Amino acid sequence: MCGILGYVGSKQAGPIILKGLRQLEYRGYDSVGIATIDHGRIELRKDAGRVDAVEKKLHFGDMIGVYGIGHTRWATHGPPVQKNAHPFVDESGKFVLIHNGIIENYLELKEVLRAQGVAFSSDTDSEVLVHLIAKVYRGDLLKAVFSILPRLQGAYALCVLHTDSREIICARNGSPLIVGVGNGENFVASDVSALVEHTRRVIYVRDFEVVRVGEHEVTCFTFEGKPVAHEVKEVSWNIEQAQKQGHKHFMFKEILEQDKVVEESLKVVFSCARSWNRIHIVACGGASYAGLLGKYIIEEVARIPVSFEVGSEFRYRKPLIGKGDLVVVISQSGETADTLAAVRLAKECGAHTLGIINVVGSTMAREVDEVVYTRTNGPEISVASTKAFLAQCIAMYQLAYHLKGGVFEFAGFGGYIKSLIELSESIKLVAQRYALYPNFIFIGRNRNFPLALEGALKLKEIAYIHAEAYQGGELKHGPLALVCEEMPTFAICPQDEFHDKMLSNIQEVKARRGRVVALGTAGDTKLAGLADDIFYLPAVDALLYPLLESVVLHLFAYHIADMRECDIDKPRNLAKSVTVE
Ligand code: M6R
Repeated sequence: MCGILGYVGSKQAGPIILKGLRQLEYRGYDSVGIATIDHGRIELRKDAGRVDAVEKKLHFGDMIGVYGIGHTRWATHGPPVQKNAHPFVDESGKFVLIHNGIIENYLELKEVLRAQGVAFSSDTDSEVLVHLIAKVYRGDLLKAVFSILPRLQGAYALCVLHTDSREIICARNGSPLIVGVGNGENFVASDVSALVEHTRRVIYVRDFEVVRVGEHEVTCFTFEGKPVAHEVKEVSWNIEQAQKQGHKHFMFKEILEQDKVVEESLKVVFSCARSWNRIHIVACGGASYAGLLGKYIIEEVARIPVSFEVGSEFRYRKPLIGKGDLVVVISQSGETADTLAAVRLAKECGAHTLGIINVVGSTMAREVDEVVYTRTNGPEISVASTKAFLAQCIAMYQLAYHLKGGVFEFAGFGGYIKSLIELSESIKLVAQRYALYPNFIFIGRNRNFPLALEGALKLKEIAYIHAEAYQGGELKHGPLALVCEEMPTFAICPQDEFHDKMLSNIQEVKARRGRVVALGTAGDTKLAGLADDIFYLPAVDALLYPLLESVVLHLFAYHIADMRECDIDKPRNLAKSVTVE
């Protein structure tokens, strides 16, 4: 959460940083700020609001100076107001800093600094960093950064500038940081999308490293000051793939790309060992629903017991895992703090960790024992995950078949996904009828239940509609009390072994005057006779239906959110990469 970006070169920094911040905005959009240095003077512009709104007032593009830093904020400490926006300048006006992460002992540090006479201008934890550095500075910015690091508790990627030296000093512990290597110019950023327009050559900075980024050279050190070597890697995607390409929202563009995602995903190969005492799957949010689907599919296909847990719970338990166990983590960003903590705990317990991760070079990808990358036809920018979710689900089937000793195949998969995407306009017509309901129930049974969870999550996160998901059989144990004319139910009811049970559940809803939108199999007249509205999936093997359902669920939520004029790509209070607890 929070996007950070730095530039040092010979071009005007303001417009470069502004453009990069637009790419990073999905990481946080509470406030935005840029600082550049020109003729030994810091120029600082920042305010609460989205990049484009603040740009209209502050004209970042006019900022001169050939090196600078910028930040988009996802508020943790202090409300999203101007004074809490980054960058922060020290009292001498010579140091300026941005930070992503949380400094857990900031109150203690603040007290120490206050006792030394420092007056704070914000409520943030981050501001302590710039004052700490200023206090210990003796003419060498790199040394000053080294000397404050042992005093910090928490997570950070920080970048600091001094008016007298044309370089950015960065440090990383727990929050992502990437260096973009250019020709006579270099960049630092939270992720590749902010710099891929300028260079595709990147260095993935590791935890506990400090980097000095000059115009012509990049030098990495350990926290102890020992130089470390880094391979410069080539990013495989380009700037076009990180743009909307004429679509109203990234989310819609990313839904449309899914036939290509399927094509690429089917090439993914698992090569992990097949024999494990037990398998544990850990992930957060939407990725956790892909994980829950994995539990159903692996147990069904490979007949190996699988436990499933969300990262935020797993990390604070004393999980019964050890040598001989496989812990599978699933993450789009590869930076989710709770999932990352689960990786570390699993390793401590002696388990083997396998990451199913989308962002190449991310922290999790580097920390797991084995990584399998999902292939999503370029980056996923929308906060609401769609194509990465589908890729994660496919990976679960591939893992299940690999563990069984086979290979996952799904003839015609890409074509099916394409035909479902083509339903978009008819889904939109139905969505119109449901856009004003404030509540929704989603039901599904067995392997379709994780998809019900996913459908409900999407409606919550992008359309701000309260939605809950239940296993069809659970309705009668409580939630049925909610069903009435004002509470529609979305029933996932493909023609599988649970079909008749689901029809009974739908009957229960209809008997209480609840409206039903159903997702069923083409030709299902029984379901059509019961549901108020229906979307059809092509007839496939029962095991495979979950792989077709998300396209419809995502389009349904998307169109409702669009009708409600929600900020679809940047839902309130959320951020794409959740790097704090
Ligand atoms: O980057 P990750 O996959 O680890 O992120 C996990 C969740 O934060 C993420 O899936 C979130 O729930 C999405 N907004 C879902 O659309």
